[in-house]
Amino acid sequence: MVAVHVINGPNLNLLGRREPQTYGSQTLADIEAMLEKRAQALGVALTFVQSNHEGVLVDAVQAAGLAGAGVIINPGAYSHTSIALRDAITGSGALVIEVHLSNVHAREPFRHTSMISPVAAGVICGLGAAGYGLALEAITPLLKKRTASGAQENR
Ligand code: DQA
Repeated sequence: MVAVHVINGPNLNLLGRREPQTYGSQTLADIEAMLEKRAQALGVALTFVQSNHEGVLVDAVQAAGLAGAGVIINPGAYSHTSIALRDAITGSGALVIEVHLSNVHAREPFRHTSMISPVAAGVICGLGAAGYGLALEAITPLLKKRTASGAQENR
């Protein structure tokens, strides 16, 4: 069975009450429950991590990558700043899909740049909570293919 770690960064613990006009009304627990259902249908084992601390996120990405698990990550504001998270992806060889609830490209200019996107297999943004489900659908065949070929490419 392939494994996927769903990693959420700073302030995503506030989903549901945080700027619902931008991020929607679903809580992180709602999103995780939706993913768990889909994962069972796809035959994927999920692990959930949320932290407001950059180092904890670095540890989580490394752990997933070194274990050969896929990563669905919404790095929150660290998307725009964290070279450490990017290095954790390249250093551990993690296969990553980056997710943003909002369309970061339609927002402030400082949200237009992501440290993560260049080292991700794919990026989904602007589709709200549905983006996480789409990321799970997308990463599953990529991981199965990677496991079958024994490859260590992350893009
Ligand atoms: C976000 C977009 C980021 O710019 C912001 O800092 C977040 C959430 C999103 O999901 O749309 O915390 O990653």
